[in-house]
Amino acid sequence: MSIAIIGAGNVGAALAKSLTAKGQAVRFGVPDPAKYADLPKQFDGKASVGTVAQALEGAEVAILAVPYGAAAQVAASIPDWGGRVLIDATNPLAGLGGLVVGTTTSGAEEIAKLANNARVVKAFNTAGAENMIDPQTQAGPVAMPVAGDDAAARANAMALATLIGFDAMDAGPLKNARYLEPMAMVWIQMALVLGHGRAWGWVRGKK
Ligand SMILES: NC(=O)c1ccc[n+]([C@@H]2O[C@H](COP(=O)([O-])OP(=O)(O)OC[C@H]3O[C@@H](n4cnc5c(N)ncnc54)[C@H](OP(=O)(O)O)[C@@H]3O)[C@@H](O)[C@H]2O)c1
Repeated sequence: MSIAIIGAGNVGAALAKSLTAKGQAVRFGVPDPAKYADLPKQFDGKASVGTVAQALEGAEVAILAVPYGAAAQVAASIPDWGGRVLIDATNPLAGLGGLVVGTTTSGAEEIAKLANNARVVKAFNTAGAENMIDPQTQAGPVAMPVAGDDAAARANAMALATLIGFDAMDAGPLKNARYLEPMAMVWIQMALVLGHGRAWGWVRGKK
């Protein structure tokens, strides 16, 4: 599978690390590829970097890993997403204190309105970047809820989450991102505000 990762920061690089470790090729799309010229060296020849348009060439799946403030611009900048699966890993943060949208909509739904002909899926937003590199915990793999209106796109994102070691969970339609984004706020409060550390993750308990 050809995977574009839009954004090459904490989340983009973490997902690239785990995906390339499983044999996938990734191409980062960033505003200034020269800034990230050395980044692909970390990924054993399985990653490259270019503009967002270059990253999307031939990509079946794109992962959106940019600050939410840039997500609308990215979504709207592509005239036709060509039916691609667009995995939205962003969180519409108002700093560490809250979300700029919620209850009646979600960041994912707002992105979907702007990304013409994209099959938008919400995933990878409820775990920290460290867990994207290694989703295993002593209690089992970190759960990864995946929401989206297109069942095949949702299955595609779940397969990627499973490939890199998450416990992928079908979270239903895209509007359920209204609940997954606050779930990320719980993670942020626990990890960063209340001092429980970035290693913790949601794990599905099974009797
Ligand atoms: N960090 C986490 O643990 C975590 C976990 C789950 C979800 N998230 C969410 O994931 C998203 C990314 O977080 P992060 O921590 O990876 O952020 P980050 O480290 O700040 O990285 C953001 C990346 O996006 C790039 N970018 C900015 N504007 C862009 C544009 N218009 N087109 C393409 N690329 C652009 C940046 O490039 P430049 O360097 O050139 O600006 C940078 O490479 C956020 O929405 C965050 O809420 C984060």
